[in-house]
Amino acid sequence: MIFDTHAHYDDAAFDDDREELLSQFKAAGVRHFVNIGNDLASLDTTLELCKKYPESFAAFGIHPAEIAELTEKDIEGIKSKLENFDRAVAVGEIGLDYWEEGPDKELQKKWFIRQLELARELKLPVVIHSRDAAEDTYNILEEQHAEEIGGVIHCFSYSPEMAQRYVKMGFYIGIGGVVTFKNAKKAVEVVKTIPLERIVLETDSPYLAPTPYRGKRNSSINLTLVAEKIAEIKGITAEEVYDRTYRNALDLYRIKE
Ligand code: NI
Repeated sequence: MIFDTHAHYDDAAFDDDREELLSQFKAAGVRHFVNIGNDLASLDTTLELCKKYPESFAAFGIHPAEIAELTEKDIEGIKSKLENFDRAVAVGEIGLDYWEEGPDKELQKKWFIRQLELARELKLPVVIHSRDAAEDTYNILEEQHAEEIGGVIHCFSYSPEMAQRYVKMGFYIGIGGVVTFKNAKKAVEVVKTIPLERIVLETDSPYLAPTPYRGKRNSSINLTLVAEKIAEIKGITAEEVYDRTYRNALDLYRIKE
């Protein structure tokens, strides 16, 4: 069975056929997904979507590219959503993104730390987004004793060494379509280096579809291609990848079945 730990099914890319697509999941072996609400508008659309799909879970948090006008009142709103929905399982996605010209770095750090505090308060794990900000992200998580909070580094894009540091911190590493790309040397090395016990599957749907669908709209059904690639890299069966990553996802989000 497949557990997609990171998706955005409230995205407009699914407006035309959302219901039809999600109704195919069960037959395709996709049991659960976590929908990530990562800006103020998608907090509401995520909640709406998750209420409709009993096999889904929700995460609420503000993405680093979206924090420019964030206020403490917004944080209170996120908190209330997390407290009042019984399938809210994480704070995220939160973190740092220095890739594109976005909000001021210091401001990103401020709201990253604030949302880590929120996770600690609510005893929830975090979903971390980090792009071109390897050292700052790691340093903040270390300073904030994130090993006591726990979570996942989503769409992991750094070195195998950095992956090992996060594994030591008790974090999971999110592996998705990128590992199937032709020039995905680094992602392949990461999968080789870290134990299967620390890997979770994710799509980031509608983004990052695996080969041969690269550039097209992604969905959790495509995770079979990611699992097969992980199996090939590790010299194990795809079944082992499905079973272990499924249990890892339950453990990451502290879900009891
Ligand atoms: Ni995402």
